[in-house]
Amino acid sequence: MTDIVYLNGKFMPIDEAYVPVLDRGFIFGDGVYEVVPVYSKHPFRLAEHLRRLQYSLDKVRISNPHSDAEWTQLVNDIVQRNDGDDQSVYFQVTRGVAKRDHAFPKGVTPTVFMMSNPLVTPSPALVESGVACVSAEDYRWLNCDIKSVSLLGNCLLRQLSADVGATETILFRDGKLTEASSSNVFIVKNGVVLTPPKDNFVLPGITYDVVLEIARTREFEVEVRAVTEAEVRGADEIWVTSSTKEVLAVTTLDGKPVGDGRPGALFRRMHALYQQFKQDHMRQAA
Ligand code: PDD
Repeated sequence: MTDIVYLNGKFMPIDEAYVPVLDRGFIFGDGVYEVVPVYSKHPFRLAEHLRRLQYSLDKVRISNPHSDAEWTQLVNDIVQRNDGDDQSVYFQVTRGVAKRDHAFPKGVTPTVFMMSNPLVTPSPALVESGVACVSAEDYRWLNCDIKSVSLLGNCLLRQLSADVGATETILFRDGKLTEASSSNVFIVKNGVVLTPPKDNFVLPGITYDVVLEIARTREFEVEVRAVTEAEVRGADEIWVTSSTKEVLAVTTLDGKPVGDGRPGALFRRMHALYQQFKQDHMRQAA
């Protein structure tokens, strides 16, 4: 079946969806986006994703073209129109189409685009083996809390890991852990789960929140605080989290084993609890 996408008020096959070349998303990367995982046709934490969308829109001064009720309807519509129970819904809002000028145009209508792809979560083999990551200096801008479509920095950094067949690039800014090119990062040291706070240096991940919630409810020892590069390099465990990766163990960093080079005990526990959380909140509700 052809993928059905949504563009500015209409659903259509993806190969019929076009935006004008003067769209500021194309010219300037002037827009924001969201990625929502869908399990058993139920969007996961949609209210939280819509809240983050509003935050991003406010930060870049684009007025939200839809109410939460309208967004919810659109997301549910696109899920129904596409195949598969588990999907990954992507949507973006750009400032719209205008003659090229850095300053904001007046009176333009934002462009709204939405698509859905099959949700490909890590295979059991990958969960079992863990993944390789590399590290790099985080040279992105200082507004990483905005989920902006201007992702050139993230793409360049991600490619460093792709070049060597690794899964993610873990980023340090001034000797402190920020996040990875498209995930948040947790470490474990001496039984304590550590992760940096949500500030302007990291994208406030929805999965990050879920993992922290589970950790606190299940009485993991948790510290949300600045994490140094040395702590990451000496960690017993490293995890990356995102809507599509869920929780994944990092077993090598820059070619060196993390801990004993296998997914750690706390990772295994968290991964199982995360799957259980999904089961309880999504599958059974379906
Ligand atoms: N990326 N940090 C960055 C830089 C990200 O791009 C993402 C997600 C995350 C994790 O956020 P969440 O848990 O809400 O997915 C952290 C998405 C999946 C993407 O761009 O495809």
